[in-house]
Formats: sequence, C-alpha cells, structure tokens
Amino acid sequence: MSTEQEIKRITTKSLALLKKKKIKITALTAYDFITAKLLDNAGIDIILVGDSLSNVFQGNETTLPVTMDEMIYHTKSVAKGVNRAMVVVDMPFMSYQLSVDEGFRNAGRIMKETSASAVKLEGGQRVAETIRKITEAGIPVMGHVGLTPQSIHQFGSYRERGRTKAEADEILNDAKAVEQAGAFCIVLEKIPASLAKKISTSVTVPTIGIGAGVYCDGQILVTPDMLGLNMDFHPRFVRHYCKLADTMTEAFKKYIEDIRDKKFPSPDESY
Ligand code: KIV
Repeated sequence: MSTEQEIKRITTKSLALLKKKKIKITALTAYDFITAKLLDNAGIDIILVGDSLSNVFQGNETTLPVTMDEMIYHTKSVAKGVNRAMVVVDMPFMSYQLSVDEGFRNAGRIMKETSASAVKLEGGQRVAETIRKITEAGIPVMGHVGLTPQSIHQFGSYRERGRTKAEADEILNDAKAVEQAGAFCIVLEKIPASLAKKISTSVTVPTIGIGAGVYCDGQILVTPDMLGLNMDFHPRFVRHYCKLADTMTEAFKKYIEDIRDKKFPSPDESY
C-alpha cells in the first residue's frame, strides 16, 4: 500500500510526511457538500473552502465581498462530505486585517462553528504575528504569499508577482516569515517557477502552488476552473480537465427538449 493510501485522515503531520517522501500533495477547492464528497472519494489531500467562493459561487469580481458567516455556512456543508481530506478555510477579507486579536477571534470562530481542520490567511511578514497567535492556540494555519487576491486593489492587476528581484526577495522573506510564525503549509500563487523552487527548498513546510510551476510540493486549482465551468476564464496556469460547461448546457437543452416533446417523464419514470 502506498503512503497516500495508508493515510486515513490528512493532518498537518501527514502533509509534512508527504513533503519528506517527495510525494506531491493534491488540493482543490469546494464550496458545497456534493463536490466535497466527490473530491474526497477521488482521494484529494486538501479541500480548501476558498474565498474564491466570492467569484465562482457568488459571481463577484473580487474575493473581497465574501463574509465570515458565508464562509462558515459553506464550510459546514463541505465538511459533511469529507472523511479523509484536510478541510482548510480561507479567512475572508477584513476578518484578520484589523488586529491580531480580531484575526485570532475569527479563526477561533471558524474552528468552533465548522468541522474544518485549519484556516488560511493571505500575506507574509504583515500577518506573521496573527499567524503566531492563532497557531499558539492550536489552530493550524496555511499561509498564502505571492499574488494574494485580497490585495488586488493594491496590486492593480492579477499579473504574476515576483518578476523583479526586489519583489522576489520580498515574497521569499514573506514565505520564511509565515513558516517561522508557525504555518504548516504555504500557498504560492502566480510567481515564477524558479522562485517557487527556491522557496520550496528554503522552507521546511510544504508549498502548494497555483500558477507557480512544477517544483512546489503540491498543487491547487479552483475546482470550477479546472472543470471548465467557465470557459471564458482561461489563464495559462489553469488546465481544463473537462468541459463541464458544455456537458451541462447539453444536458439542460436535452431536458428542455424532452419536456416540450413530451418524452419526459416516460411511463417508467411515472407512478
Ligand atoms: O480562494 C481560493 O480558492 C484560493 C486558492 C486559489 C489558493 O485561495
């Protein structure tokens, strides 16, 4: 039996073991029970209830509008579908930026009200103190550096980060600060593969890349993106594993047609 199959429930320890054994960590997002159940049955290691919920579920342009209550609501549904994967919850914009205590209180609220195993915070040196306080209370924290979408208005665009030496050094220092503060894992978003490689060998905790190349210890994508649910959104780091938008549209059209043609329901589908 392989190490991945042997692990009955993914914990911070199992992720550290996977990095040590150079076995890539797999992660995807979920916002509902059925998707979470399918992901867990497929053997995914981490399910992130990402604040991408704001974009792909709520239809907002940025991740900023999603609230604590909404993140908690969706996490409760996700957690019910999961037996093996680690469920991680994004702390939404302004749930931890105000003060260390506010972040601490909100991380505690997520852990108390959902069955998640960890929270995720965006930022590096800036949020290190908050990460320290949360982890010291026994709550595992996933870091997130590079392109951090909650700072989109500061960045001005979703272009990749870390192209200049100054920016690359800052991202490396951010990752180190997050690790030193106690994070068990760090998401690296939209940075050059060479920088992600440097970070992944400079920190001992696993790195999970999104648009950060193959050298990260694991990979994450936003599930509706990789399923091809929105074919208009196709940045180069997203691979469409299917074209679910087409499949769903065909099914919807066939259903409409069958009803109009009185082919649905059939006698077998009636009482
Ligand atoms: O919100 C999200 O889905 C994320 C991933 C893109 C890492 O933070």
